[in-house]
Amino acid sequence: MKNIRLASELTLISGTYFLGAYFLYRKVSLRISISEREILIYSGLVVAVWVLYLVFSGYHFLNLGKQLRVKTKREKEAAKRLNQACQGTIKALISALDCRDHATWVHSTRVVGYAMAIAAQMGLDEEEQHKLALAGYLHDIGKIGVPDHILLKKSKLLPEEWEAIKRHPKIGYEIIHQLDFVNNTADIILLHHEHYDGGGYPFGLKGEKIPLTARIFAVADALDAITSDRPYRPARSMEYAVQEVCSLSGQQFCPQCVKCVEALGVEHLSQIEQDVKQPDKLKFKPEELIYGGV
Ligand SMILES: [Fe+2]
Repeated sequence: MKNIRLASELTLISGTYFLGAYFLYRKVSLRISISEREILIYSGLVVAVWVLYLVFSGYHFLNLGKQLRVKTKREKEAAKRLNQACQGTIKALISALDCRDHATWVHSTRVVGYAMAIAAQMGLDEEEQHKLALAGYLHDIGKIGVPDHILLKKSKLLPEEWEAIKRHPKIGYEIIHQLDFVNNTADIILLHHEHYDGGGYPFGLKGEKIPLTARIFAVADALDAITSDRPYRPARSMEYAVQEVCSLSGQQFCPQCVKCVEALGVEHLSQIEQDVKQPDKLKFKPEELIYGGV
């Protein structure tokens, strides 16, 4: 609509300009003895129209610039609001998991710490590390769908209860893959209990058919599981956990990832276990992982 108005105004001004120029031309060409006064009048008319044309053009260009600035500002505000909404969704999901089972959330922060160290040792780029960290915080989100009497059971689980627990990667995948801004982590969530030799779940995938990030994750998850208390046994030392992981290289765990665990060493991994208890020492905080923390 504004463009039509601008075009009609410009047409009117240009028309007036050409009309003035035409009359001046006629006066000059038809009358040999044209007075200086008439030349001044017609020249003045042409100049006045030109000035008007320039004023209108300037006004419209300034107005256009202003409209563009307003549009850019609105787009930036919309992007900021969208980013805040995404961060809010992540926080809400994490809070839901934390409320449901606090132990799972604390476990997730430690797993992120180990997974980040293994990923850095392996030379994964920052983008992959971001993806891995976000998947780490959300990996057990599917436990929301496991009944309380199974999830919080203190005694040993019955086989059918284990089957219910084993559904959590698929439930987590169903939740996460619907969220466009985190659905790149859905595969890691789905496959974080697969074993290198095909003995894991939910699909029994083997070797390199399991994405590297999911293989890293499986090792990190196991390190924390071994060093945590269980209803049927106390927590084991980090030294024991590293030995256990090494003994299962090529079976439960990817040999490449196990080598990185060995290279990191017991002392470094124990330090990570302590560091993640302090939120300010987390390399990636959950809310900073959306669009690189923009
Ligand atoms: Fe899990």
